[in-house]
Amino acid sequence: MAGMKIRKAVIPAAGMGTRFLPATKVMPKEMLPLVDKPLLQYGVEEAVAAGCDEVILITGRGKVTMEDHFDRAPELEASLERRGKLELLEAVREVTRLARIVVTRQSEPLGLGHAVLQAKEIVGDEPFCVILPDDVVTHGEPCMKQMVCAFEKTQSSILGSEIVEGDAIQNYGCLECTVDADDPRLLRVTDMVEKPKPQDAPSQNAIIGRYILTPRIFQLLEELKPGAGGELQLTDAIKALIQYEKVYGYRFKGTRHDAGDKFGFLKATVDFALERDDLGPAFREWLRTRNF
Ligand code: G1P
Repeated sequence: MAGMKIRKAVIPAAGMGTRFLPATKVMPKEMLPLVDKPLLQYGVEEAVAAGCDEVILITGRGKVTMEDHFDRAPELEASLERRGKLELLEAVREVTRLARIVVTRQSEPLGLGHAVLQAKEIVGDEPFCVILPDDVVTHGEPCMKQMVCAFEKTQSSILGSEIVEGDAIQNYGCLECTVDADDPRLLRVTDMVEKPKPQDAPSQNAIIGRYILTPRIFQLLEELKPGAGGELQLTDAIKALIQYEKVYGYRFKGTRHDAGDKFGFLKATVDFALERDDLGPAFREWLRTRNF
């Protein structure tokens, strides 16, 4: 595995988005926009910034708009061109040039582990990354890029991680780990548990929706039995991986928002809007007038 590069990103996007109903009754939750770009596009852009040229979308029924988003739109493009709206035209075209998008389906909602397993044949025998588009991370250096840099040193599986407060750990995969002696951002993982009861959590180190995985994970996913919530849990397969290979957590730089949750989505929207050159200054002024 020495010197292997991460070229492929898997983006699981087959979920039903129940936390955002009724908005997600017909629209995939991954297409909810932060300002003017869908969550999914941020995920694809992060994969590309990390060096990937192929993105494997795991989709399901009623989710074809996600594929269309990355495809050419001849009538729209012609209309924008005719009307001289060249900046918008470029924004629309840019999306289609980001990466090679490969789509495969998860036909039953059997869990995140099962979703990732659907990419087995397309990924093949090489390390790859997984980005959950609900989790958005803001930082000058995109989160997956930071993790790919860490992978270049370790050549091992790496899980994005952050410390969460109190009982919140019960909503995440949780790491039992020790801090690496040479790099305080790296955590050597010794055990993992999916969504533990707070009193059973081995630490407050939560897994966030960013993973770099070695291809052995597919074999372990195939052998997996249902875990928490009766689902095939990616966390359980990675726990099995620890018996064969080193697995690290990585304390990324930046702020993470759970944009799959209404409150997290609102916070992400505000943060993203404030960072925009075109909207930020006026939006900041307007927020000041709200007298919070
Ligand atoms: C999934 C994983 C969990 C991880 C989380 C990060 O859970 O199963 O281990 O901590 O993503 O967002 P979900 O949020 O899909 O229930």
